[in-house]
Amino acid sequence: MNPMEQLIDSFGRVHNNLRISVTDRCNIRCFYCMPTEDVVFMQRNQLLTFEEIERVVRVGVTVGINKIRLTGGEPLVRRDLDQLISKVAAIPGIRDVGLTTNGILLAEQAQQLFDAGLRRINISLDALDPVKFKEITRREGYEKVIEGIHAAKAAGFDPVKINAVSIRGVTESEIVPFGKLAREAGVEIRFIEFMPLDSDNAWERDKVLFADEIVDTLSREIMPLLPMKNRDPQAPATEYVFEDGVGRIGLIASVSRPFCMSCNRFRLTADGKFRNCLFSLEETDVKSLIRGSGTDADIARAMIESIQAKKIGHEINSANYVQPIRPMHSIGG
Ligand code: 5AD
Ligand code: SF4
Repeated sequence: MNPMEQLIDSFGRVHNNLRISVTDRCNIRCFYCMPTEDVVFMQRNQLLTFEEIERVVRVGVTVGINKIRLTGGEPLVRRDLDQLISKVAAIPGIRDVGLTTNGILLAEQAQQLFDAGLRRINISLDALDPVKFKEITRREGYEKVIEGIHAAKAAGFDPVKINAVSIRGVTESEIVPFGKLAREAGVEIRFIEFMPLDSDNAWERDKVLFADEIVDTLSREIMPLLPMKNRDPQAPATEYVFEDGVGRIGLIASVSRPFCMSCNRFRLTADGKFRNCLFSLEETDVKSLIRGSGTDADIARAMIESIQAKKIGHEINSANYVQPIRPMHSIGG
């Protein structure tokens, strides 16, 4: 590949990973992501169609994209998502398609997603206590998520990863139950430090339960955790395994140990905007190119220019931090 035609930013980071949000809608209302009521969602005709997304991915491959993750909102509320997965998985040059879901609709869809070519699945679940689940998500659905996790295992997904946002005052009592689940159910639990992307703007640093505290608690209450060998240096999670080799734990320390310098991720929103960072304040409109007379070369150029404008990293830990206007459910995580 011509190095001029790759997604390399001004800090030398090479981007091969495209995260595609397929909808901003969701069937629950996690407080760290969405307001409870009166959410204004995108209109159907604002969303990129599957054909339009497929085109962006094909062009992405020509500039070095080879990994895809589908996100939301909740991606499984978008009808016939398995058809998008088949289309994307069949594109030559795509070596991996993943999905991040809240799991509510997973039990009914797991097998068809697997059969469509999906192999990597992350299920968001912040508490194993059903009362706490409802406090966080402000909706019913705990049992459905648990069923979804089992269905994912039964369909053949391996590994199945669980994402738990790590919030001070909420997560402490969940750490040990999650540690035990990792050991008993053969799922990897990944704790993600709570980030300031909540639409209520209520984030404070004091509300983040830090990765180190979780490692300490698990090591003390269950058994020591050892860092895993051969881990992917570009993966945001630091992965650990319990000393006896049973049970994997991932820590995504976005606040206490930012990993921006190894970022390889680029984003496409459901309404057709490129974002070069979860936290970016600027976006590049690709939908107008697709629906206008833009050529594939124009789309590739828009991607390259967006990457070239990427900043060094987020400023969560500085007084200069400015929260993006777009809340998490319409960025895609
Ligand atoms: N901080 C940390 N993680 C978040 N997620 C959503 N909002 C936040 C936030 N404010 C997580 C979701 C999901 C993933 C895509 O991002 O729980 O697992
Ligand atoms: Fe929905 Fe995911 Fe946002 Fe929770 S984090 S409200 S599951 S989009």
